[in-house]
Amino acid sequence: MTPIRKRVLSGIQPTAGSFHLGNYLGAVKNWVSMQDEHDAFYCVVDLHSLTVDPDPAELRTRTLSSIAQLLALGLDPETCTLFIQSHVAAHNQLAWVMECMTGFGEASRMTQFKDKSQKSGADRTVVGLFTYPILMAADILLYQSNYVPVGEDQRQHVELTRDLAQRFNSKYGQTFVIPEPFIMKAGAKIYDLQDPTSKMSKSTASLGGVIDLLDAPEINLKKIKSAVTDTEREVKFDEKNKAGISNLLTIHSSLSGSSIADLENEFAGKGYGDFKAAVAEVVIEYLRPVRERTQQLLTDPSHLQRILKTGAEKAAAVADATLAKTYESIGLVPRG
Ligand code: TRP
Repeated sequence: MTPIRKRVLSGIQPTAGSFHLGNYLGAVKNWVSMQDEHDAFYCVVDLHSLTVDPDPAELRTRTLSSIAQLLALGLDPETCTLFIQSHVAAHNQLAWVMECMTGFGEASRMTQFKDKSQKSGADRTVVGLFTYPILMAADILLYQSNYVPVGEDQRQHVELTRDLAQRFNSKYGQTFVIPEPFIMKAGAKIYDLQDPTSKMSKSTASLGGVIDLLDAPEINLKKIKSAVTDTEREVKFDEKNKAGISNLLTIHSSLSGSSIADLENEFAGKGYGDFKAAVAEVVIEYLRPVRERTQQLLTDPSHLQRILKTGAEKAAAVADATLAKTYESIGLVPRG
């Protein structure tokens, strides 16, 4: 008898034309390694990205490019279920039910909402940003997910999801699996090359600090060579005093598989220039096939469409069953 595999769900926003190294090492790499042992559902959360008012043509391109990159990075549509969030209508439908069970104060306490809305001001903050975590809860609960691989910054949203699931179950009877956050390891946290104390992120001012997966090798090289380091000469892991070098060590180690200690030995007595050149080479060689495969996938839209259609059908089968059960529990009359 085959053991029942635990269910996993995660989502990533199509906010840029290319994912960056932080997205890959902090999230997608785990997705790839979890797909074999779990019943994994992964989605590109295009509906979530509407909160930042994207240009329509860009949203379309970015969503397809995100799917192509996820495939190029190793997600196998035969092994996991890969789909676009908006292809499964149940996400919005369950989100409404969950919105009606979430306290206004409870939603107001989400730190990501507070940070983002404070930055742009109340008049320029859309309601979708406020309900964003509730749509995320629907994403998770529809699939009866056991684990939700996310970064530390999403922990509070998964906690809210757990609270909502427990509230629903105790009011209407067992309906949802209570999901657990599967927080990615600290070692996988990649920092901005220009400001190695903040996370690598598209929203930082310096794009020079972000390594895009689809960037040309020359650009990767230039960015890594101009990474901010310190005035010492020693290649040593010390996050507090040598944030830049530590970040480059993490990047090298995560992509090459060499341990940090081995790298420290290898570069003992050598200057930062040599070390940076080695990091650049590892990054460039790792990303070359990813970029080529992504470009190749994007030249065949009908192949991508077929993968997405199958993914959406598999996802909808699970999601629609959960939604039907939910609607019934709360007293909505079935259409019959
Ligand atoms: N909010 C998540 C992020 O920004 C993306 C996301 C949306 C997600 N729905 C999800 C992550 C469901 C995990 C599960 O990273």
